[in-house]
Amino acid sequence: MSNAAESSTSPVLVEFDGRIAFVTLNRPEKRNAMNPTLNKRMLEVLDELEGDDRCGVLVLRGAGASWSAGMDLKEYFRDNDGKPRDATLKARRQSGGWWGRLMYFEKPTIAMVNGWCFGGAFTPLVSCDLAVAADEATFGLSEINWGILPGGNVTRAVAEVMNHRDSLYYIMTGETFGGQKAREMGLVNESVPLAELEARVRKICESLLEKNPVTLKAAKDTFKRVRNMPWDLADDYIYAKLEQMLFLDQTRGRDEGLKQFLDDKTYRPGLGAYKRA
Ligand code: COA
Repeated sequence: MSNAAESSTSPVLVEFDGRIAFVTLNRPEKRNAMNPTLNKRMLEVLDELEGDDRCGVLVLRGAGASWSAGMDLKEYFRDNDGKPRDATLKARRQSGGWWGRLMYFEKPTIAMVNGWCFGGAFTPLVSCDLAVAADEATFGLSEINWGILPGGNVTRAVAEVMNHRDSLYYIMTGETFGGQKAREMGLVNESVPLAELEARVRKICESLLEKNPVTLKAAKDTFKRVRNMPWDLADDYIYAKLEQMLFLDQTRGRDEGLKQFLDDKTYRPGLGAYKRA
């Protein structure tokens, strides 16, 4: 695994292995709570990785026993109390900035939830295309206990992937839950024992890395956008995306796929190559 030029004290670490970029939230002593320095650096890291060919898929993980303990209650909240309003607005823009970039990132993204995942951390969690948790991970919408509601678009993120009853239950009680419960509720794709977490995530990465990257980006953006559109707009958007994708895909993957199936008889989705004399 090759290390990027990042000091181990940086709030975000980037390491490449094959074409996987492991991005690590790196404030283990604060359980990877997101402070302004981390948020600022994450936005830069996403900018850097977007154009970096070493990154075919991005895995977001946390250092130590935590994924992220959410917003930094001191540096993000209390330190801004009493300051002019623009200080709070700036802090919000810094966090919202990288979460928004993550939602529509150029490469596929996977949240690898290795431990604590609280409050504000739900927004980057849901912004990742896929999420795999450790059974041992602990999730919590703890805001209710701090006298606040899940802001930073956490409420919206929860509503995006969880159902009405489950969302309200956890928003209103602040109870914690584990990886398996997160999977049952649709907050993550899968939950596996911690000891198997990285291997499982790497397996998914392998599958994604075999796909045409232009098609992957178009497919994920299309899904994320059309679900909030009326039927007719969605239909039009999907065709527009399809045509944009064909234009952007210089490898002409669609032509190649059709040729393999219709002419060469070398490929059937799910069934492998034809075996004919
Ligand atoms: N903001 C700021 N600091 C945080 C933090 C947060 N969200 N989460 C943890 N920390 C800090 C603690 O204050 C402590 O700092 P200290 O060493 O200077 O005292 C350090 O991280 C370690 O935390 P600690 O509680 O001792 O670790 P733990 O492993 O026993 O427990 C948690 C981990 C995540 C369960 C616990 O820290 C916690 O409940 N954090 C708050 C999570 C939360 O509600 N986040 C939502 C914010 S909107």
